[in-house]
Amino acid sequence: MADGVNVRREDTMTKLAINGGSPVITDLRMPRWPEFDESDERALLEVFRSGQWWRGGTVEAQEKSAVGFFERRFAAYHNADYALAVNSGTTAVEIALRAVGVGHGDEVIVPDLSFVVTASACLTMGAYPVFVDVDPRTGQIDPDAIEPAIGPRTKAICLVHFGGYPADMDRIPEIAKKHNLALIEDSAHAHGSQWRGRGVGTFGDFGTFSFQQFKSLTAGEGGILTTNTLDRWRAAYSYHNLGRLEHKGQYEFYLVSSNLRLTDLQGALLNSQFPRFEKQVERRNVAYKRLDAKLGAIPGIEPQPEDERITRRGFYYYIYRYDSEAFKGLPRERFLEALKAEGVPGAGRGYGSALHTYPLFQEMEVPSDRSNCQYKYVSCPVAERLAAQEICTLAHQVLLLDDAQLDRIAEAVAKIRENADELL
Ligand SMILES: Cc1ncc(COP(=O)(O)O)c(C=O)c1O
Repeated sequence: MADGVNVRREDTMTKLAINGGSPVITDLRMPRWPEFDESDERALLEVFRSGQWWRGGTVEAQEKSAVGFFERRFAAYHNADYALAVNSGTTAVEIALRAVGVGHGDEVIVPDLSFVVTASACLTMGAYPVFVDVDPRTGQIDPDAIEPAIGPRTKAICLVHFGGYPADMDRIPEIAKKHNLALIEDSAHAHGSQWRGRGVGTFGDFGTFSFQQFKSLTAGEGGILTTNTLDRWRAAYSYHNLGRLEHKGQYEFYLVSSNLRLTDLQGALLNSQFPRFEKQVERRNVAYKRLDAKLGAIPGIEPQPEDERITRRGFYYYIYRYDSEAFKGLPRERFLEALKAEGVPGAGRGYGSALHTYPLFQEMEVPSDRSNCQYKYVSCPVAERLAAQEICTLAHQVLLLDDAQLDRIAEAVAKIRENADELL
């Protein structure tokens, strides 16, 4: 029975919850996501009872619809001249690429760190993504990596504001302009983010957003494009509506395209969610700074850097970098397990892989004259390291917790660092 005695003695020495110690957090309840109440029910019922569940066929009906109202509201919030609601964030990126003229055989420069759609959307029109590396501190596309990747077939840059933190909107639009490339900002993570006081999604040809279930503004599914150019809006409109033109007849078709429209039930929900969303953005902008200060004081934890050009942050995730060396070599995955055991909700690692490493790309046969697109040989060491070892995330709902609860998340991280020996 000597073994049993040993085990018991170890138990009493244990501090970490993953080993049987008391968790730092026992009573924390994550805000339900999405948050909703009777006002959302009323908004949905109103459209439901009207019997008009789509946004309508004529321009006048479309403008009067709940979707039309939401488009104007969202455009104003992001300082865009025009917006077009569509049925997902994925189709928003596809429409944007088509509307700027990306077609078969073109190349599109994308960051190697994102959700797959930023890179895979162009495949649906026979174009190829060209992966470039990211900045090690922000996780955003590295402007210095873009120009070397530009070739004669490059048509566009499709970047992401990863996690909601804006990519460099001083330098990248300049690069796009200099090389006559279209610029698309995949802003699926970045509702509410601003660069120098202006909403993201307005610095290039198009911004694209998602309203899928887990996004910071949701209707279960949905998406929207923003643009400051009427011609771009018109092209996007046509691609989302079966190739119709805005002021032409219902049965006149001009483009190869699909039905990618948003329903008015979703429009109603987005409208009723919107005031709540605005308040949530404000709260998250206070909360992230507190978390930055508390977590940033722990050696080995590095939040995304403050940048005075970023005047407001939207969030899909709160991102911080984990340096296992400062945790005595404790691998990130083990750190995250320990963090969950301490009662920290919504703790994750983002998507976990650099995009070019997915089988989708690794197994793709690409003509050999495309040296930039031989995905087996792509190397983006920063994105690979961040994705596989360093990036840690907290779901955006965490930033709706109160200050005392946020402080306990930092306490849990500090506790794991102090007791990392227990896990080695
Ligand atoms: C960066 C990014 N782009 C595009 C999308 C696609 O959005 P949707 O799920 O609405 O199609 C997502 C969804 O998670 C995303 O994270």
